[in-house]
Amino acid sequence: MKTQDGRLYVIAGASRSGKTAWTKKQTAKARRVFAWDPEAQWCELPGWLKVTTRAQLLAATQKTGPQRVAYVAGGSLQAEFDFWAGCVMYAGRYVAPLDAIAEELADVTTPSKAPGNWGILIRRGLKRGITIWCISQRWSEADKTAVGNASDFVIFRQSSGDDVRYLARKTRVAEIEINDLVPLQFVHMDALTGKINRGKLRF
Ligand SMILES: Nc1ncnc2c1ncn2[C@@H]1O[C@H](COP(=O)(O)OP(=O)(O)OP(=O)(O)O)[C@@H](O)[C@H]1O
Ligand SMILES: [Mg+2]
Repeated sequence: MKTQDGRLYVIAGASRSGKTAWTKKQTAKARRVFAWDPEAQWCELPGWLKVTTRAQLLAATQKTGPQRVAYVAGGSLQAEFDFWAGCVMYAGRYVAPLDAIAEELADVTTPSKAPGNWGILIRRGLKRGITIWCISQRWSEADKTAVGNASDFVIFRQSSGDDVRYLARKTRVAEIEINDLVPLQFVHMDALTGKINRGKLRF
């Protein structure tokens, strides 16, 4: 069966290295976007709707038109993240295609197999045309299922040698190149073709 596949971006870098700013640029023209927004950053951007309850998030997933929805959850982050992932899968599969942005995955996932709704989203969402932007400062401590399913690796400056070694092992980007990155500079590897692009964010 022919499907319109989405992409899964693994975005890695130390604090202030450029992850959120890069993702913001990449998704600027996307039609429907749902963000897991624990630091309440996306919800402050123009054109975004801030939702803070499960009921508001569910209501937003039913709408077919263009929208940008940031979920700023209270309570148990793990449980809310699982709920968000379930909503996104539903909204992408049954309502209309979308982009999903997940900020700081090391806070809500572990290196073991991705749990629950998040696992379903990253294993099956792409086939449903959902594009997923997975962000973390520390991929050596975050979700290996996302790394295993990545179509793209976007590597900014790292804060630890563990992360440098981990990312070099998972990609064709050399440790020395990752070590030499300065803030806002990145290496983007398309994991499906092996093609590597290098760049620096400008504002
Ligand atoms: N619109 C902008 N204009 C100028 N500078 C910006 C803009 N957006 C972000 N920056 C700067 O770019 C740098 C990277 O910011 P960004 O928020 O992308 O970091 P990050 O990798 O997401 O960090 P964290 O892990 O802490 O969330 C910061 O120094 C930030 O101040
Ligand atoms: Mg950020």
